[in-house]
Amino acid sequence: MAILVTGGAGYIGSHTLVELAKEGYDAVVLDDLSNSSKESIARVEELTGKTFKLYVADIADRDIYEKIFSENDIEACIHFAGLKAVGESVEKPMMYYQNNITGSLVLFEELAKRNVKKVIFSSSATVYGDPAFVPITEDCPKGVITNPYGRSKSMIEEILMDICVSDPDWEVVLLRYFNPVGAHESGRIGEDPNGLPNNLMPYISQVSVGKLPRLNVFGDDYDTPDGTGVRDYIHVVDLSDGHVKALENMKKGVSIYNLGTGNGTSVLEMVKAYEEASGVEIPYVITDRRPGDVGNVYCDASKAEKELGWKAVRDIKQMCADTWNWQSHNPNGYED
Ligand code: NAD
Ligand code: WQD
Repeated sequence: MAILVTGGAGYIGSHTLVELAKEGYDAVVLDDLSNSSKESIARVEELTGKTFKLYVADIADRDIYEKIFSENDIEACIHFAGLKAVGESVEKPMMYYQNNITGSLVLFEELAKRNVKKVIFSSSATVYGDPAFVPITEDCPKGVITNPYGRSKSMIEEILMDICVSDPDWEVVLLRYFNPVGAHESGRIGEDPNGLPNNLMPYISQVSVGKLPRLNVFGDDYDTPDGTGVRDYIHVVDLSDGHVKALENMKKGVSIYNLGTGNGTSVLEMVKAYEEASGVEIPYVITDRRPGDVGNVYCDASKAEKELGWKAVRDIKQMCADTWNWQSHNPNGYED
């Protein structure tokens, strides 16, 4: 039996392959490599000593499923594949809805056809919008989402909920990630964004190796201890472990879990922690707020601890040290 991992060549997917292998799972990857490279899979193979079949295709390509299912005995799917750049989604909404929503619908149909009705879906804290309260529990109502990327995540959640209503055999887990950062402790796999990074940690790490001159801190007038935005950063290895725990605890219907640490860290606290971990100064300037940003986002992750036996164990120091290790050894990502 094997797990079908869509988007498995990407940042979170590649780390999850390592954790799956550690727990003895076989996995096959479906990825169109639109935001990743085969090299990540080669490195996962090097780290785990296992081989992973990689099917290079769009999740919306119906023909590929015949091949995947005839060659493998698939028991469940972890669905990472999707486009994720918030700003790009505002510029190209049709591309985002086509890729994320149409692609997911085709995937779910093709799984259902073959009676594979277990799906773990990569959702996001973005579905809470400007949260009604912090720490955010899974009962917090969804908020106003300000971009097509976030709306695609929320819509896919709802599609999966409707599927579960229509057919009680489905077992669906919606994992709402907070802010994934860090890299595998080996420094062999990590985050390798295309072009200018959108997110804080890859931006800081590119400043640290001299690829970018300075960090722009988007606003210092939020209602937070130092005025800069507070987020719940989670180490990607802890996050990956959350997927394995979710897989081990699947049950009928839809289950929703926040995956975060429960701790908030501000932009300036992150800069300081990264400087300490790397020994490199991170120059920064305070700029205007980024449109659509909110001040405080951190979660209550106790539901995942209680029901899945999962808890994030790596702290900000470790997140920064592992990011630095990855970035300093692979300044150009997988191109090195
Ligand atoms: P990533 O871009 O590194 O990985 C996504 C992978 O999916 C890439 O390898 C890409 O090539 C592939 N892909 C995209 N569209 C595809 C398609 N139509 N068919 C086949 N493959 C396709 O991103 P990531 O950070 O690893 O994120 C994984 C998932 O987690 C995404 O769904 C993302 O929306 C979600 N998520 C990410 C974050 C984050 O901050 N990284 C936060 C919350 C949720
Ligand atoms: C974190 C903090 C910024 C960059 C985004 C998506 C969300 C999810 C995770 C997928 C904020 C500040 C950032 C910079 C800065 N992705 N910042 N300078 O916005 O919490 O979430 O990624 O689902 O959907 O919206 O993460 O890393 O972009 O920002 O000051 O160059 O860092 O203002 O306070 P965010 P982020």
